[in-house]
Amino acid sequence: MSYPYQIKSFEEYKSVYNKSVMDPEGFWGDIAGHFYWRKRWDKVLNWNFKDPKVEWFIGGRLNITENCLDRHLGSLGNKPAIIWEPNDPEEHHRILTYRELHTKVVQFANVLKNNGVQKGDRVCLYMGMVPELAIAVLACARIGAIHSVIFGGFSAQSIADRLMDAQAEYVITCDGAYRGNKEIPLKSVIDDALVQCRFVKRVIVLTRTRTPVSMIKGRDVWWEDEIRKVETMGNPDCPAEEMDSEDPLFILYTSGSTGKPKGVVHTCAGYMVYTNYTFVNTFQYQPGDIHFCTADIGWITGHSYIVYGPLSAGATTLLFEGIPTWPDAGRFWEVVDKYKVNVLYTAPTAIRSLMGFGLGPLQGKQLSSLKVLGTVGEPINEEAWHWYNENIGKGRCPIVDTWWQTETGGVLISNMAGVTPAKPSYATLPMPGVQPVLVDENGKEITGNNVSGNLCIRFPWPSIIRTTYGDHERCRTNYFSAYENMYFTGDGCYRDEEGYYRITGRVDDVLNVSGHRIGTAEVENAINMHAGVVESAVVGYPHDIKGQGIYCFVIFQGSHGDENLNRQDITQTVSRIIGPIAKPDKIQFVPGLPKTRSGKIMRRILRKIAEGEMENLGDTSTLLDPAVVDEIKKGKL
Ligand code: WTA
Repeated sequence: MSYPYQIKSFEEYKSVYNKSVMDPEGFWGDIAGHFYWRKRWDKVLNWNFKDPKVEWFIGGRLNITENCLDRHLGSLGNKPAIIWEPNDPEEHHRILTYRELHTKVVQFANVLKNNGVQKGDRVCLYMGMVPELAIAVLACARIGAIHSVIFGGFSAQSIADRLMDAQAEYVITCDGAYRGNKEIPLKSVIDDALVQCRFVKRVIVLTRTRTPVSMIKGRDVWWEDEIRKVETMGNPDCPAEEMDSEDPLFILYTSGSTGKPKGVVHTCAGYMVYTNYTFVNTFQYQPGDIHFCTADIGWITGHSYIVYGPLSAGATTLLFEGIPTWPDAGRFWEVVDKYKVNVLYTAPTAIRSLMGFGLGPLQGKQLSSLKVLGTVGEPINEEAWHWYNENIGKGRCPIVDTWWQTETGGVLISNMAGVTPAKPSYATLPMPGVQPVLVDENGKEITGNNVSGNLCIRFPWPSIIRTTYGDHERCRTNYFSAYENMYFTGDGCYRDEEGYYRITGRVDDVLNVSGHRIGTAEVENAINMHAGVVESAVVGYPHDIKGQGIYCFVIFQGSHGDENLNRQDITQTVSRIIGPIAKPDKIQFVPGLPKTRSGKIMRRILRKIAEGEMENLGDTSTLLDPAVVDEIKKGKL
């Protein structure tokens, strides 16, 4: 494949960017022309941010899997599409060519059909990082079913919440998953979730760990048995379902500042065009390169830059089942050398954690195949940036700092590797078609440079969130109501003298823990489920490795056990309700919480205390009981 729309110089970037702003429809229409359509669109864009209603490539008909698979078979059929590195380095790796991947997707698409899955049905995937996860994702897309992948670190309760919200009648899982030296009993977690979800008709279980599982008659079937059935059926083909541009492709749940996680909906055409465009340009992918994105497919980064972006571009994408620190902290570097990885895309939290192991794990590693490095998920501190640049990139690999969100579908602000300038801890410049705006609290645009504000986007790009599943009003209030006619990101941002953007972190009550989004309200609700808890308030605090840690102030009434046992019980409760990824880092028992006279918790004060800035609490005179602040300060962990 060649990429005629791959930008090659800073000058070209500037002119392309200008065109994308002056004539967005002309610009995106040209890009979309490079894809395979059953029927071309009638109109490129319809939009308003009031409802909001955004439609791209209106009237177009396509199937994203024909763009990710079928159209490559002629020229790339024997090229690796997916390289899979297992958790255990002793186990044999797997390589799937485009032809093999196509065959497997078609087979599993037939399995889905045999099991009653139809276009528009929601299918929930709860699997480890095995090639079959990518296969299942694509098989859903092939038949027009809406996939919803749930990360393996979520609890049964979280899964049940998502299944109910999506009304998903089909589940695909594994018996278990390997992660480092742990074995996670995925099917058993699903069984717990399904106690509350009687509407689930079918669970397809892939064998991975061969952990004993309970298979319920009439509901649960083995992946392998179902494949055998379609093999004996004869007709191996599964023509792709013709989809409308705006038909939903998937739902992905993410945390916001209020309530339960919301199901972000992305649609077929816009998402395809945008993830492909940003993949090709941000990483400057060259045919034959090996692209290694270390994210989990359970997050948006995995959807866009392990599966859809790379495969739609005919790239080779590396899927890694394990973790960076097992069997030792040299694992990433070993994988890079083993497959001669050219592009490495990971999270600052991983870099910081590996930094902590020093240079030992790098000994004997060449890393000479690397051309481009990337980061995503949270602000990268300068120290980590330099460590990454010097020790991994050896000073010769551009680092792309990609800022984006589940809701944006693809990268919105980032430098392009070797093409536009990089600046440590800056995402730098917007992608073509992206129009960032900084606004103050009153919604007034802040113009000029060397300014800070809340980051909004004033014009739609093709993979912008379309709705939150089952509750469009929630989409409107969350993203489109804070500032008129703008998409509000929830992030704070600084624009420097040269106009480069630096994301400074969330300005709402969303934490970013190891690059995972967690709502403080969600954690509070989970803590409050514990029988002994009267009330709680959760804030973030700076954490050396995780970026942010979870600090919980808890009013506790139970008398059972000592403080540490109570802490463990609370932690266990959170783990049950949300999942291990939301476990508190610190729990401080307090006699009260700082509240205004109207009963609102003043988180600003708690945040300062958690950050250790005790002297700097600002005005506390409006508090109902200012004395409580001194009590809390005394007990600070
Ligand atoms: C944060 C992940 C600074 C940000 C793709 C955003 C970043 C949230 C960066 C979205 C970056 C992501 N620099 N902050 N390069 N990338 N973030 O939905 O706060 O899991 O709002 O999407 O992560 O997280 P999400």
